[in-house]
Amino acid sequence: MASFHTPGHKNRFLKSFNNLFELDLTELDATDDLYNPKGPIVEAEQLAASYFGAKKVLFSTSGNTLCIQAMLRLAVPSKSKIICARNLHKSALGAIILLDLEPIWVFPEVQEEERGLPGRITSKSVEMHLKKNPNARAVYITSPDYYGCMCDVEKISSHCKKNNTPLLVDNAHGTHLACLDPSLHPIALGADISSDSAHKTLPVLTSGAFLNINNDNYLEDATGSMALFGSTSPSFPILASLDLCRDWMQKNGRAEFSRLERKVRYIENLATQKGISLPPGRTDPTRISLGVGSIGISPGECAKIFRKFAVEPEFASDFYLILIPSPFNTDENFENLERAILSLEKKEQKKEISLDIPKEFDARQILSPREAFFAENKKVSVECSVGKIASRGICPCPPGFLFVAPGEEITEESAFFMKKTGILDILVVK
Ligand SMILES: Cc1ncc(COP(=O)(O)O)c(C=O)c1O
Repeated sequence: MASFHTPGHKNRFLKSFNNLFELDLTELDATDDLYNPKGPIVEAEQLAASYFGAKKVLFSTSGNTLCIQAMLRLAVPSKSKIICARNLHKSALGAIILLDLEPIWVFPEVQEEERGLPGRITSKSVEMHLKKNPNARAVYITSPDYYGCMCDVEKISSHCKKNNTPLLVDNAHGTHLACLDPSLHPIALGADISSDSAHKTLPVLTSGAFLNINNDNYLEDATGSMALFGSTSPSFPILASLDLCRDWMQKNGRAEFSRLERKVRYIENLATQKGISLPPGRTDPTRISLGVGSIGISPGECAKIFRKFAVEPEFASDFYLILIPSPFNTDENFENLERAILSLEKKEQKKEISLDIPKEFDARQILSPREAFFAENKKVSVECSVGKIASRGICPCPPGFLFVAPGEEITEESAFFMKKTGILDILVVK
């Protein structure tokens, strides 16, 4: 099957990885210690920092989840406010609970032509929230999202800088943006810290990620913050793959991604000619999100058709079929994808979008996410949950949107969206 899903190495990167057991080592003089590095790991991380243009880069072998935990631990003291995008990954919600943070939610804006997508956080709403919450310790956004939609990081970061508030970006899906010309990586656009799930789009073993820090205030405690949550037995093959990936990006990234951009543009043109819609606005030029609902085909049905052409997509959402290509896809992979798209037959009726992202609603935070999560709880049906305080957050990914936060009063609106996503019961505070 042609892999149009993670990981980005597409199972064909380096011969040295043919025998993983040779690389699977422990902390020795020659291999160094990830959470107390003095030798080759410092060197590798410094090379990565100079590549990304950051003051410090730390390697993670526990995914972007660990980077998000460390990023929030570094920038936001416990019980402090954080201006936080409501379209966030559940790993960030977990970190907010563990660290006892007080989120001030910013809802993304969804234009009519963006229905079926989680929408984008606008610089205007960040500016407004910064004004209203001068004591917030950081702004946290996700960009790009799973569908490739990107926020205006440059503008958001300029508002943050004016207010002396750091901008933290969950860049899980965008490590490779550093390879574009010009770079669209959040660090290049002014973010203070970014967490990068390198394994999703680059030749890195699954769970390999980078934490990029570009603010002097967060350098000293950075390794300690990673160590707080990370395993004491980090995987050396994953570390090696991160270092080799940085070398590959430095030598080949720009040329390889510019080739990939051209292939993706070709595929997108083909799709548009077929009547398939694409996410509008600012997007990652290498992510393929096909709005096959616009030609009346459900993404699940489309995935089945694609598999007949030996194309395995990443995910079928309500309206979009998401494919994650990388420079390690072969020309043959793209030919299969082209044939698969050409085989699609438009239906009479457009597919209805059944899962809209809720417009901003009055989310009343009664308890902190941490208090609610660790409180005594009981299971109730979503039907009977309105007015009760959620003990667990409901944050399905995709769409990667928080329907209800722990500690929040469940509204008619959030219950409606939970039912729509097939969630029938929820733990509420007793
Ligand atoms: C937006 C986003 N953030 C964070 C994560 C967590 O990353 P990882 O799986 O590398 O821990 C994901 C994973 O899918 C994600 O999509």
